[in-house]
Order: sequence, then C-alpha cells, then structure tokens
Amino acid sequence: MSFAEYSEEIREGDVAIVYLSHESLMAVTVRHGAQTQTRYGAIRHSDDLIGKRYGAKVTCSKGGWVYVLHPTPELWTMALPHRTQILYATDIATITLMLELKPGSVVCESGTGSGSLSHAILRTIAPTGHLYTVEFHQQRAQKAQEEFKEHRVDHLVTVGNRDVCKDGFGVTGVADAIFLDIPSPWDAVPHAKTALKCSGGRVGSFSPCVEQVQRTCEALSRHGFHELNTLEVVLRVHEVRTVSLPLPDFGPDVLSPEVPLPPAFHHAAATLKTTTPPREMPAHTGSSVFGYKEDDHLQTTEGLCGSS
Ligand SMILES: C[S@@+](CC[C@H](N)C(=O)[O-])C[C@H]1O[C@@H](n2cnc3c(N)ncnc32)[C@H](O)[C@@H]1O
Repeated sequence: MSFAEYSEEIREGDVAIVYLSHESLMAVTVRHGAQTQTRYGAIRHSDDLIGKRYGAKVTCSKGGWVYVLHPTPELWTMALPHRTQILYATDIATITLMLELKPGSVVCESGTGSGSLSHAILRTIAPTGHLYTVEFHQQRAQKAQEEFKEHRVDHLVTVGNRDVCKDGFGVTGVADAIFLDIPSPWDAVPHAKTALKCSGGRVGSFSPCVEQVQRTCEALSRHGFHELNTLEVVLRVHEVRTVSLPLPDFGPDVLSPEVPLPPAFHHAAATLKTTTPPREMPAHTGSSVFGYKEDDHLQTTEGLCGSS
C-alpha cells in the first residue's frame, strides 16, 4: 500500500480506511493481533483484514459490517487527525488544476498544517515529482514527516521546519508551482519567486479573508506575477426529486385524428425527475489567488534567470 500507488491486498503495516458511512470513516494502521473498535463491534486485524482485498466488506464482532478501502488523499482528508484548519477536496481539486500539477511536477508548499493538501499533491506528482513542504511549527512538521513515511510517500517529499516568510523554501529555481496556505502569504511572495524555476511557473495562495487576498494580490503584482485570478469554489449540490405534474388537456386531436396520441397523454399526470438547488448553504471557506511568474515568456538561459 502507498498513498501514491494502488495495491490489491491488505498487508501488515498498511494504513486502511474503515468506511462506516460517508460521514464516518477512520484510518487504521493494520497490525497482527490488533483490534479496532467500531460501533458495529470489533475488527480483528489478523482475521478480518490481513490478506483480504481492499474494498472487502468486513463483518464486525456485533454482526454489523464495514468496507475496508485503499487509502486515497480524498479519504485521508475526511479521516485525518486535525492539527490545523485543512483544505478540503473541492478547493484541492481547483488548486491542482490551476497550478497545472502533473506527474513529475516540482512543488513548494507552506504551511504543511495537517498534510491534507500535501497528500493530494504527492499523489498527483508521483512517481517522479517532488514536494518541498515548509512548516514552522516543530511538532506539526515532525508529525507530517512521520505520516508521509507511514503512507510510503516520504521519498517524494522534503519537510522543512522553518518560517517560510523569513527563510523561504530552501530551494532556488526548481519549482513548477508554489502554494501558500499561511496567514501572511504576501511575506512569502519574494521567496516563492526565488523557488520557482527560471522560466514560467504558477503560484497560488489560499486565504479565508478578502483583505488577505488583496494584500497577496498587491505583493504578487509588485513582484511581477501576472494574470492574477481570484476564485472561490462553491459546491452547490442539487436535490433530485420525483414529481408528478398534471398534463394539459388539449381535447381531441382534430388536426390529425389518424395519428394516435402517445400513451402518456392519456393520463392526467406525468411523473418526472426534477432537481432543486439548496435554498440555504453554508459555503464560504476562502478564496484562492493564482498567477503566472512574470518571465514565463523568456528563454531559459542562465543570464535571464540570473537577472530576473
Ligand atoms: C491552515 S494550516 C495549513 C493546512 C494545510 N494546507 C492542510 O491542508 O492541511 C496553516 C499552517 O501554516 C503554518 N504556518 C503559518 N505561518 C507560517 C510560516 N510563516 N512559515 C511556515 N509555516 C507557517 C501553521 O503552523 C499551520 O500549520
């Protein structure tokens, strides 16, 4: 098992996702002889997990059942232990798109926080890319490092324990993309520019307040980033309902009496599916700013990079 690569069989040491419902799932480290308690009873790792296929339905000791799923960044985001505010799948999907991430991309991120975004980046850039993630809180940096190792993606990531606003990302001229999720992203913009590769590169920053977004945009413009876009992604889930509508009665078909009316027209009502958007929705999580590095149209030469 690795968060960046699928395997069929559950093995000792894997992190499996025990899925009770969409609202209730937990990450479990599989160990010989261990048990995990759920509201449906205990899961015995040796008998119920090890050697079974991911996706299996496992019956717990009280007779209820759960699914045991292969971990994905999306499931991890729903199950991870929160050490900070985290980014969720809707924003992460947009960030991945807007930063143009792909296998092989080199990415710098700060702060690491609870590693929710980091896991999604790692899955996208594997097997040949690299993530440099910077977190100034020592325990958070250390815990993230432990989790990356346990999830077998540690070869794809370097965790830096420093203040990104003062000391930067620790790399120069290598990153395809930078992402900031810190309270004062404008202070890290000069370091983002240094870390980005000589030609081209994308920058993104997530902030909950519009005042932070404004200051970040100003700093990005000042440092020559262009085509700045600010996005807020709001997921609007429509409710699907079956409704019964009365049909209009047009009377006998006098124009073409030889053509029979379709059977539905002989009924007084038609049944159909319809959707309704939510009337109220708690939506705002924050806004993300994205931009291009100024010199992305220039040639990649030592001289130009040095002068940018
Ligand atoms: C909102 S959390 C990031 C959450 C992360 N994106 C996720 O999805 O789990 C912000 C993190 O940035 C860290 N941080 C804030 N300012 C920082 C700085 N100047 N340098 C490095 N880390 C910083 C905080 O300690 C915190 O862990």
